[in-house]
Amino acid sequence: MAHSTTGSFTGKVVFVTGAGSGIGRATALAFAAQGADVVVADINDQPAQETASMVRQLGRRAEAVACDVTSGEDVAAAVATTVETFGRLDIAINNAGVEQPPTPLAETSDADWDRIIGTNLRGVFLSMKHEILAMGENPGSIVNIASGAAVIGIRGQAAYAASKHGVIGLTKSAALEYAAHGIQINAICPGIIETPMMDRFSGGTPEGRARVIAQEPIGRMGTVEEVAAAALWLCSDLGGFAIGHALVLDGGQTIGI
Ligand code: NAI
Repeated sequence: MAHSTTGSFTGKVVFVTGAGSGIGRATALAFAAQGADVVVADINDQPAQETASMVRQLGRRAEAVACDVTSGEDVAAAVATTVETFGRLDIAINNAGVEQPPTPLAETSDADWDRIIGTNLRGVFLSMKHEILAMGENPGSIVNIASGAAVIGIRGQAAYAASKHGVIGLTKSAALEYAAHGIQINAICPGIIETPMMDRFSGGTPEGRARVIAQEPIGRMGTVEEVAAAALWLCSDLGGFAIGHALVLDGGQTIGI
């Protein structure tokens, strides 16, 4: 069996990228609250250290690793640290990502394209590659954090949407390749979630928040805990039949116009 039968993650080792903030931090804490030990990988060391300390306050072991997911060397080293520190890798949450300031395609700079694709798509590719190699013959579960922008186009978000659509292609293809090896690979497509990224994107003002919430039929932003709960389900035995799934969790944002 890939996972515990109780839904608890005691004894499991979880690697989370972008775990210094928002969805990544909440997911790291949610797994820790269910008994897992966590490796907190983030390009920013200080927030990663803070998340690791929060995991320890929950009584679990944690290691913070400075890791830029656009660098194969960094990712390989972070995954190696996971195995060296905790002896195994059971679950990986590939969450690190960057937003795109609203920009029409023809005005998007080459540098912005490279930054967004580099983090959101290449970063997930590199993460999955080294995680799958580390899992080897052992069972495991990988969840990639995509976006509602992975299933629809969004004006002003061509580069971001392309990066997130790409994550679904990576997820489905790798899921096919590794399902028979016991490595379960899925994605979550969150809608508008209350995080520092969404604060930056909306401008954090009441008007900006109202503008993004207006895209949500449910009339509110999602919470980081709601996304973390979906990741926990996918990685639990109860989610064991989900393979290559792109789980849209978006308050209805993408279901129609
Ligand atoms: P956030 O900005 O609060 O946190 C992102 C974390 O990723 C930060 O700690 C940052 O330091 C880290 N990071 C950025 N670039 C990195 C790199 N190259 N290497 C390693 N770490 C890096 O963002 P949030 O909102 O928690 O987003 C997490 C993921 O969820 C992203 O992939 C984002 O695209 C996705 N998402 C977020 C939504 C939202 O409404 N907040 C909606 C849909 C998807």
